[in-house]
Amino acid sequence: MPREEKKKSAEENEKDRSGGISRREFTIASMAIFGAASVGEGKAITQVANKKLAQPGIASQATAKLPLTSSARKISLTVNKWKYEVYVEPEWILRDVLRDQLGFLSIKDMCNGYGACGSCTVIMDGRPVLSCMTFAAECDSATIETAEGVAVDMQDLIEAYVMNHCMQCGYCTPGFVVTAKALLDRIPKPTEGEIRDALGGNICRCGTYTQHILAIKEVTGNA
Ligand code: FES
Ligand code: FES
Repeated sequence: MPREEKKKSAEENEKDRSGGISRREFTIASMAIFGAASVGEGKAITQVANKKLAQPGIASQATAKLPLTSSARKISLTVNKWKYEVYVEPEWILRDVLRDQLGFLSIKDMCNGYGACGSCTVIMDGRPVLSCMTFAAECDSATIETAEGVAVDMQDLIEAYVMNHCMQCGYCTPGFVVTAKALLDRIPKPTEGEIRDALGGNICRCGTYTQHILAIKEVTGNA
């Protein structure tokens, strides 16, 4: 069945099951709200990060879990095109700074930070990296993209994920989405083998693996 017809009939089936609102319509509406919210939040967070963390030792409620020590150093990050300046301790990992300090809640932790699940993946300077295995202090001047940024920049990928039912509990999904985006930035039309290789480090306890391949193929026109 051609892609448009397949999309339409899947949408109509969803509508029947959910009382008139399709999953696609719901997701597109949610993404619009999410995009607006993330831009708004980004602005507010930038202000907090710049204003309240103007010097080490001033630990604002919004951004620091613990009082900073004299070992803390200031780093600059560009996250989803927003610039941040934050103070970090030498042992703080990137995942905690992005998630707990700056509020990028799409970044997950399915393996207690053992580097085994891929749910904390972010794109850093064009490469997918495990943020749980990366010291924040080493990321000064890095450009980072999280799933919040992918949702704004690559809506067709998000739509393909929804249409192909790539998530069950959804906990692993942001890590997959970010890894897929990094792959498509590097190889716009990947083969199935390249998709499998790229997603090899992402674990899904619900077993959605084949759906991710379908979604990525669909978005590249290789379905
Ligand atoms: S939290 Fe599992 S790899 Fe980072
Ligand atoms: S959808 Fe549940 S862990 Fe992947």
